[in-house]
Amino acid sequence: MQGEKQTVEGRGEWRSRVGFILAAAGSAIGLGNIWRFPAETARHGGAAFLVVYLGAVLLVGLPVMVAELAIGRRTRRNPVGAFLVLKERTPWWLVGALGVVTGVAILSFYSVVAGWTVGYLIKAARGDFTGVTSADQAGEIFTATVANGSWNMILHALFMVLTMVIVVGGIKKGIELASRIMMPVLLTLLAGLVVFSISLPGAEAGLRFYLQPDWSLLTPTVVIAGVGQAFFSLSLGMGAMITYGSYLGRRENLLTSAAWVAGMDTCIAFLAGLVIFPAFAAAGADLANLPSGAGLIFTVLPTIFSSMPWQPWGGVIFGSVFFLLLSLAALTSTISLLEVGVSWAVDELRWTRRKASLLLGAASFVLGIPAALANGGSDLFTRQHWLGMDFMSAMSTVFGTYSLTIGALLICVFAGWVWGVKPALAELGDGCTSPFVMRFWSLLVRYVCPLAILIILAQSLGAIEALMGLFQG
Ligand code: PFF
Repeated sequence: MQGEKQTVEGRGEWRSRVGFILAAAGSAIGLGNIWRFPAETARHGGAAFLVVYLGAVLLVGLPVMVAELAIGRRTRRNPVGAFLVLKERTPWWLVGALGVVTGVAILSFYSVVAGWTVGYLIKAARGDFTGVTSADQAGEIFTATVANGSWNMILHALFMVLTMVIVVGGIKKGIELASRIMMPVLLTLLAGLVVFSISLPGAEAGLRFYLQPDWSLLTPTVVIAGVGQAFFSLSLGMGAMITYGSYLGRRENLLTSAAWVAGMDTCIAFLAGLVIFPAFAAAGADLANLPSGAGLIFTVLPTIFSSMPWQPWGGVIFGSVFFLLLSLAALTSTISLLEVGVSWAVDELRWTRRKASLLLGAASFVLGIPAALANGGSDLFTRQHWLGMDFMSAMSTVFGTYSLTIGALLICVFAGWVWGVKPALAELGDGCTSPFVMRFWSLLVRYVCPLAILIILAQSLGAIEALMGLFQG
């Protein structure tokens, strides 16, 4: 096989399987789980969305993750190099290049939002939310926070520096070590918040909303939202898992590793819902009409701190722990966003890891400046003339939604049809012996996933609505 001859030696490997799983789960677990998942669940009717999401992870997310890991481990290369090794002299390397660009681009605004979480951690610890009981008050604080351009830039810089320091440390001593420390802390904090939240008086209404499905709310939009959320949350579509897979040892079972990563990611998202909804219900919030998006965490959550027991400390501790958790989760994701580009520069351009991390981190920081100014900091970037949105929303839509979805589609087509299921299965076979599971994977990656992704793309481009309009008209 071509790939084996061209393996780049000495580029690093995970110390252990647990180390890999914690790092990959760290990449997956991020703002997407703790901030976006509960917001999507709230928007799409609670428990019905949860069920759809679980289906999306199993039927679409997991197969794509396995495909990415297989491509990475077979070639032991960054996403661009991996496609070059498997299909020389074809344009497939562009899929990897799209991944590298997408990583730097998502990192640029993700780091700004991560900076807000650090800002909110400081506010919560200082007791700034004590006495905040109405959504209007919390909204004012949020608007003032995100409009403060220079403060946002400082926090954005801080987050980017933290990310670069870890990535410079390399695979074992940087990413793996940081994930080994942060992930257990994150799990412990989250478990503590769940226990606290569900023991609050009045929490049951939140549990019912979250766990008792109302099937009448199940629509195609809910299904599409579930699949989209699964990609973002599992870090798929931009080669992050190709990169992490490229540092995996030969004997690891890719299917069980992927199942662990997806399982942990899903558990954390599920637990985040168990914190948010019972806490909201206990504070008397109207669960059917929660705001979506950024509003949920940044403008609703602070209003419930004051209704926590043991005032003011109950609220200060809950708020600080929550935003610390969110910051840690974001950090284990930002390192993977930077690592995709770094692995490319190290493999293909022969840069040192230090140079690659510093230059790509700096580029992403600069690209993030307009995003840091896009919520009131500067009129130019706040105005809705970036694809009809503010600059940050436009970046998030182009790279966080379209680019990942298109990338995931191309990766499926590549693994299922171009590289081909035979070599892909041979790669999976290193460490996995169940022919049934392997066959099932090829069925999903060749037919089910590409179709599902095409439907999402068509829907999000408005094509389905346009078609329906044609039929109705
Ligand atoms: N999975 C991360 C989250 O849920 O916040 C976001 C992300 C990280 C997406 C890395 C893509 C990626 F490559």
